[in-house]
Amino acid sequence: MTAGGHVRLGSNAGQGLTRRDGVLKVTGGAGYAADCRPEGLLHAVTASAGIARGRVTHLDVAAAEAHPGVVKVYTHANALPLALSPDNKIHPFVWRMDALQSDEVRYAGQPIALVVAHSLEAATEGARLLAPQYDAQPARVTLDDAEPYETDTTAFGRPSGHSSGDIEAARAAADSHLTTTVETPSQYHNPLEPHAITAQWHGDQLEIDTPNQAIGLAKQTIAAFLGIDPSQILLRSPFLGGGFGAKAIVFGAQFLTILAARDLGQPVKMVLRRDQMYGPVGHRAPTRQTLQLDLDAEGHILALEHDTITTTSTFDQFLESASNASHSVYATSALRTEHHARRADIGTPGPMRAPGEASGSAALEIAMDVAAEARGMDPLAFRRLNYAKIDPSTGLAFSSKALEECYAKAAEAFGWEGRPLAPRQMREGRLLKGWGMGTAQFPCPMFQAAAHATLRADGSAVIETSAADMGQGAWTALAQIAADGLGIDVDKVEFRSGRSDLPDAGVAGGSGHTATAGNALFNAGADAVRQMVDLATNDPASPLFGAGNLGVTARGGRLHRNDDDRSESYEDILARAGLELLRGEGKASREGTPERAMFSHGGVFAEVLVDPDLGQIRVSRLIGAFAAGRIINPRLARSQLLGGMIWGIGFALHEEALHDARTGRFVNNDFAGYHVPVNADVPMIEAMTVHEDDPFVNALGIKGVGEIGVTGTVGAIANAVWHATGIRPARFPIHPESLI
Ligand code: MOS
Repeated sequence: MTAGGHVRLGSNAGQGLTRRDGVLKVTGGAGYAADCRPEGLLHAVTASAGIARGRVTHLDVAAAEAHPGVVKVYTHANALPLALSPDNKIHPFVWRMDALQSDEVRYAGQPIALVVAHSLEAATEGARLLAPQYDAQPARVTLDDAEPYETDTTAFGRPSGHSSGDIEAARAAADSHLTTTVETPSQYHNPLEPHAITAQWHGDQLEIDTPNQAIGLAKQTIAAFLGIDPSQILLRSPFLGGGFGAKAIVFGAQFLTILAARDLGQPVKMVLRRDQMYGPVGHRAPTRQTLQLDLDAEGHILALEHDTITTTSTFDQFLESASNASHSVYATSALRTEHHARRADIGTPGPMRAPGEASGSAALEIAMDVAAEARGMDPLAFRRLNYAKIDPSTGLAFSSKALEECYAKAAEAFGWEGRPLAPRQMREGRLLKGWGMGTAQFPCPMFQAAAHATLRADGSAVIETSAADMGQGAWTALAQIAADGLGIDVDKVEFRSGRSDLPDAGVAGGSGHTATAGNALFNAGADAVRQMVDLATNDPASPLFGAGNLGVTARGGRLHRNDDDRSESYEDILARAGLELLRGEGKASREGTPERAMFSHGGVFAEVLVDPDLGQIRVSRLIGAFAAGRIINPRLARSQLLGGMIWGIGFALHEEALHDARTGRFVNNDFAGYHVPVNADVPMIEAMTVHEDDPFVNALGIKGVGEIGVTGTVGAIANAVWHATGIRPARFPIHPESLI
């Protein structure tokens, strides 16, 4: 393993262990929210709006209630009140909700009723019997028919624009000016597991099973809107079948289910259908991005401008911050970015894997390729010429940046050298072949987390934090870190997680979960060890007596003297002290860290084959190398990076949600119509990591790998398509017909 950060880790971190929950998942032993079957369970189904804008004028509640299986129908006419209006914005990361507060329809797919029944089938049939009628207004769903509005909206608390350096002067000094426009579509998260909830009340105590990426925030949110104390809520989310940002938020239909369970005095379960995942639970908003690069005669970027126009809903604030992707990747003396939002009759967008960065990087990497072409330069040489040695947007030094090593390693593995500069030079049989590349970059934030680590008399331990495992392997990587904090083998660590009565681990998002929860767990383990060292070194009966707190090392379930070879087991120390348990507590956040620009980096190289007659595009090779600080579990990190890169294939070639222009309804809200990459779309693909020792990001030197794989990849594929065909893609996904 690499020796990153300030802290030496033991031998658990760095191992490519398989997922601890793998067997449970492949044998059906892992229980998801939709698997809950408490005694007396009722089933709820939401009815979804079939228009995008207007009012519900009639619902045939009598017909639905006449169904023998239906228990109760909730509509705007008899909606159960929340303690706070669902249109409240109580936190930047809490979305305004649809909880039947009026007859107004604000987007297609909005819940307009909740039908509760004795069976799923009866609830489904009851919802169908409602046969809604509407007073519909013309729908505005695309960038072009949305209403422009200027906004001071901030995305994740960041300003919606940035300006540094003298753009006018830089432009005047430049030799060439290159403008690139790129459009990206609406994309939907499509986790395999849809949003689901089982809610049950025991008196005034609420028990909820629902998948969530930010369990602590979810509990606070639910408490605030129900007007109850957070201590009255137990939320369980041990397994998530994917999240990608959509499950960082609690949505209206989940609240309606909780309210119905209280009203009816019985547990209620609600599981969204696949088509109901389009609209009410967030999406990646479309963008139209314009970049201008002003270059001097040698090809240095003097000015970089990146404008994004995007859509948001008519009733909330989320802004897809694509232009931010240009802040810190390439050197420039002047930088200007802007975002403009337009209000449309759509569900509120939200964070989706690499929010902002994925779309922004796609456009930036195409603009870089356009500039390299204009200068007659190799795309990699052009990026090296404009390598950012400091963060151009802040002037800060990078905490670490092994990007050059990534470029070198991936280019070598790909065989980039000798690539012809001009397009349409390579063939494989009758297919056109092209090579393209892109730079990957993603911030490495940390949130706040707390954790407990409890050593038991038998030398095993329980570690506790409410971390969420969306499938990324958090159970495993975090247990490895905790085991090293405790100085024991990972097999002796029991991990309790995914419950709101455990210490809050923050959000599993922003690629910051391993760093955040991991440091808290490590600190908790180290706290327990510290207490044990005190016990031993102050006890004349211990072979460690007098060694001093810095004179011992914890490993293998024993404390070892540093000055000779005597040691003592945790079991013996605890037994002599008469302790059954020894509990350590830990916290982590980025507070007090010196200011640095903190990012993971990578270089991605793509080969595509394009059918010159049909325009069909196949990615035939995809190779990335990434620098992400200390890698805790190389197997799981590679898997995350590959997943991100495969997402990049989907972004480049497949994913696109389409609305019917008249009704605003979705026309492809299922896996038959909304395409994501399948095995046949995924070629020879490799993700490698390079050594990177970061002493600033956090004590363990962990950066994060969850999202960076999407960045760089999309642009690399688009640039390879240009290299194959000579046609510069201007919109995603790249359609075959745009190439013939
Ligand atoms: Mo993610 S979009 O940080 O879950």
